[in-house]
Amino acid sequence: MFTVVLSNVNLLIIRQKYTIIQIENNYHKADSGFNRVATWYDKLASLVFGNVLKTAQTTFIPKIPQDAVIVVLGGGSGWLLSVLLDECLPRKVIYIDASFRMISLAQQRVENDPRVEFRVGNEQDVRLDDRADVVITPFILDLFTQSRLETAILPKLNNALKVGGLWLSTDFMNPNFLWQRLLLRAMYRFFRLTAGIEARRLANWYELLNKDFTRLDEASYWNGFIKAGLWKKP
Ligand SMILES: C[S@@+](CC[C@H](N)C(=O)[O-])C[C@H]1O[C@@H](n2cnc3c(N)ncnc32)[C@H](O)[C@@H]1O
Repeated sequence: MFTVVLSNVNLLIIRQKYTIIQIENNYHKADSGFNRVATWYDKLASLVFGNVLKTAQTTFIPKIPQDAVIVVLGGGSGWLLSVLLDECLPRKVIYIDASFRMISLAQQRVENDPRVEFRVGNEQDVRLDDRADVVITPFILDLFTQSRLETAILPKLNNALKVGGLWLSTDFMNPNFLWQRLLLRAMYRFFRLTAGIEARRLANWYELLNKDFTRLDEASYWNGFIKAGLWKKP
């Protein structure tokens, strides 16, 4: 009787474990949807937005101190990475992206610079012992639901950031004008279809960062549709 109960319990545990592994795999799979658009993402972005996405992402790069450990989540094809390496002279960049194609483009672009540790993965691959001086989230927080930002992405990055460390984030803001609303809606539809992103609307990423960090500076582009911010961990 006991053996039977025990084996049932084991079975249940095994079943539960199996489900967890499956959920984790699906979770990664959903995040890696940018594999499908990696080769033409940059071209499309500059076709629609011109240079503004790059200008916004580089706004606060001069504020990054030399010799820093920098964590970049969702950096994409690596153009920002090469700017960081050239202009900030970092000790180390931990470059995490869920798309192996994006990672491979970034590796080629910086010719496997030894200061960069590439990780194909998501926020679960940010480690406590990364001990970052700087965290960068460039046009990635808009991909997720409010709850995933609150419970997974922001806490994981926050844990890895040292007290006094800087957080640079750039992303879209909730629209003030009709043209912005239409463009944002089209972008969500397009990337849900092509890259399988999970969010249907923009989460309050800016308010969430303001809640836990001290905002040092910010800049707006395209009538407030795009925001770059610089925060400090208190
Ligand atoms: C909208 S693209 C922006 C790329 C780049 N930052 C840029 O502006 O050119 C979002 C990037 O985040 C990556 N990504 C999506 N979900 C992710 C996750 N959970 N963790 C890490 N990277 C993720 C995608 O693979 C993609 O490269």
